[in-house]
Amino acid sequence: MNAERLISISNLDFQYGKDLVLTNINLDIHEGDYIGIVGPNGSGKSTLVKLILGILKPSGGCIELFGKDIKDFNDWERIGYVRQKATSFNPGFPATVEEVVGANLYSGRSTPKPGTKKARERVNEVLSIVNMEKFGKRLIGNLSGGQQQRVFIARALINSPQILFLDEPTVGIDADSQRDFYQLLEIFNQEMRITIVMVSHDIGVITQKVGRIVCMGDGKLLCHPNSSRSEISSMLKKVYGNTMDLLIHDH
Ligand SMILES: Nc1ncnc2c1ncn2[C@@H]1O[C@H](COP(=O)(O)OP(=O)(O)O)[C@@H](O)[C@H]1O
Ligand SMILES: [Mg+2]
Repeated sequence: MNAERLISISNLDFQYGKDLVLTNINLDIHEGDYIGIVGPNGSGKSTLVKLILGILKPSGGCIELFGKDIKDFNDWERIGYVRQKATSFNPGFPATVEEVVGANLYSGRSTPKPGTKKARERVNEVLSIVNMEKFGKRLIGNLSGGQQQRVFIARALINSPQILFLDEPTVGIDADSQRDFYQLLEIFNQEMRITIVMVSHDIGVITQKVGRIVCMGDGKLLCHPNSSRSEISSMLKKVYGNTMDLLIHDH
């Protein structure tokens, strides 16, 4: 079966000012994929995600989303995003869980209008997917890191996206919450058929959980979704040093 290609990136370059940050990135993401993007700090992972989400504009090359050039793409509700450090609110931040989730409701044809009963029902629905339906009236800053994370996942799910991007979602989350989190992602991917792209530092866990690994170093893609386990292993060793022996679990 040939899965539909949701995202296609070719010869992508990006620079902040004069600094070339990404060079000649080529990557396809297909429906049903569960991809982990790993690589050292500063290797361009977040930049790549922001380019795909249209937050940054490419300096060269092209990005296609759902078969359309990104310049002509309007269906942003099909793409969910949990940004890096989404879970660092201070206790006084004046927004409730319901407000944080509801504020992301896209006002399109197929989604309920913000403020309506349907919209409130949808907020409760996504909160219950992440087991946070009892926390709707709480201030976001009063929740634990793991709970905030689930709220931000609910926020990203509210428009029923086909693909979900998560940027370093396990930073600052305790071990139990991380286990629940990976279980949740597995349900999204396997049962809800949501395509997942996750940026992570957590190489040991990532190599066990995701279907395919993309490894970045120095603004380049060092291994591609179709690289073999042993190619990935040796590339990770090159990038991170030999401590990787302890972290990579071969299947
Ligand atoms: N807003 C910015 N302005 C200038 N340089 C930036 C900006 N954001 C990131 N960079 C630089 O771009 C490179 C890639 O950053 P980033 O994509 O955040 O890496 P990663 O997510 O892999 O840690 C780094 O060298 C970083 O310092
Ligand atoms: Mg980053």
